[in-house]
Amino acid sequence: MRALDDIVMPHPVGTSFDAARIRADFPILKQQVNGKPLVYLDNAATSQKPMAVIDAMTRFYLEENSNIHRGVHFLSDKATQSYEAARSRIRSFINAADAGEIIFVRSTTEAINLVARCFGGGHLGAGDEVILSAMEHHSNIVPWQMICGEKGARIRVIPMNDEGELDLAEYERLFSPRTKFVALAHISNALGTVNPIAEMIATAHARGVPILIDGAQAVPHSAVDVRALGCDFYAFSGHKMFGPTGIGILYGKRELLEAMPPYQGGGDMIKSVTFEKTIYNDLPHKFEAGTPNISGGVGLGAAVDYLQSIDFEGGIAHERELLRYATSALSEISGIHIVGRAKRKAGVLSFVLDGIHPHDIGTILDDDGIAIRTGHHCAQPVMQRFGIPATARASFAFYNTFEEVDALVRGIHNVKKVLG
Ligand SMILES: Cc1ncc(COP(=O)(O)O)c(C=O)c1O
Repeated sequence: MRALDDIVMPHPVGTSFDAARIRADFPILKQQVNGKPLVYLDNAATSQKPMAVIDAMTRFYLEENSNIHRGVHFLSDKATQSYEAARSRIRSFINAADAGEIIFVRSTTEAINLVARCFGGGHLGAGDEVILSAMEHHSNIVPWQMICGEKGARIRVIPMNDEGELDLAEYERLFSPRTKFVALAHISNALGTVNPIAEMIATAHARGVPILIDGAQAVPHSAVDVRALGCDFYAFSGHKMFGPTGIGILYGKRELLEAMPPYQGGGDMIKSVTFEKTIYNDLPHKFEAGTPNISGGVGLGAAVDYLQSIDFEGGIAHERELLRYATSALSEISGIHIVGRAKRKAGVLSFVLDGIHPHDIGTILDDDGIAIRTGHHCAQPVMQRFGIPATARASFAFYNTFEEVDALVRGIHNVKKVLG
C-alpha cells in the first residue's frame, strides 16, 4: 500500500496565473484551523473577501457613512456618490446598457423572488407554464412554485442525463403556447455543470418567451455579458464573487422593469405620495424601497474593481486546471463516485464515498483544517435525480492551489482509514 505522502499526482504545468500572490490579498486564508493550514474549498457557498473589499467598507464607515439620496449635506452626498459609482461599475462589469437596469437587492434569492412576484405575478394565469431545469437551486424553484400556486400555473422541468447535462431536445419539446417564462441556472451549484445558456436563451426567445438566468455560480467563474447573452433577467449575489454578504444584483431589461409593478413600498421608491395616490420613482429606485445596504453596495463595487485589477481570465483558467487535477486525483480513490461529469463544468466537484456518509467526510476533513460542504446543497431535486441523500462538495476559487487539492486527497484517504 502506498504511503499517504506518495498519493499526490504530478501537478499540471499550470497556467501563468500566480495563485500564491493572489492569496496574499485574502488575509483569512493565512489562518490555521485545528492546528493545520486552512484549506478553504467551500467557495460555492461563499467566497473569501480580499483586503480591498474589507478596506473599502471600513473606509465607508470611517469617512462617509450617511443615508443616501435624500440628504443635502456633505456626507450624504459622498455616500450617494460612492453607492451610485458602485452601481455604474457593476453595470460595466456585466455590460448592461444602463445603470437603471442594475437593481441592488439582498441576494440572488431576493432577485428571483422579485421577478417571480413582479413579472410572474403580472404574466401568469391559470394553465400557464414556467420552465425550470432539474438542476435548479431551491431559490430558483420555490419562488416559482409560490407564484404558480397562486395563479394556477404549473412548472415543467427540463430533465438531465446521468452526467448532469440538460436534455436540450426535451427543453425544446417542453415549450407550448402556455409557456410564459423560463428560469435557468447558468452554472449548477450542486454539479458544476455549465449550461449552454446562450443557446437556451435563443430557444426561448425564438418562441417569444422571456428568460431569467440564475448567475449565482457563474459571475465568480466567468466573464458575463448580459447584452451578448440577450437574457431578460440575470441574478447574482455579492458574497459568492468576493464581495460582502447581504447584497446582490438583479439585472433586467429596461422595458421589462419599467412595465413591472414595484416589489415593496416605502421610502426612496416614490416620486410623490398622497393618501390617494403614489407616483413611483424611476429605475432603478422603483425597486429599492427603504434604506438599502449602502456599505454592501460599496463593497460589491470594490469587489468588481478587484476582479478587474487582477488577471481574472488567468484565474478562470487556473480554476479549470484545479478542477481537472482534482477530478483525476479523486477518480483514483477507490469507492469514490463523482456526481456530475458534464463535459463543461466549473468550480464544483461533488462526490460520494461508498459506505461513508458525506457529513462524516466533512467532519473528518475539518479536523485537518479542510473546509468542504456536505448535504443537499439546496438542490434536493438533484439529489433525488441521482438517488442519493447528499454529496460532499469541494468548490474552488482562483486562490486555491494544487497543494490544497493534494491535502483534500490525503484527507479523503484518512477518512477511509478512520471509517472505512
Ligand atoms: C445556483 C445558485 N442559485 C442561487 C443561490 C442562492 O444564493 P443566495 O443564498 O446568495 O441568495 C445559490 C447559493 O448557493 C446558488 O448556488
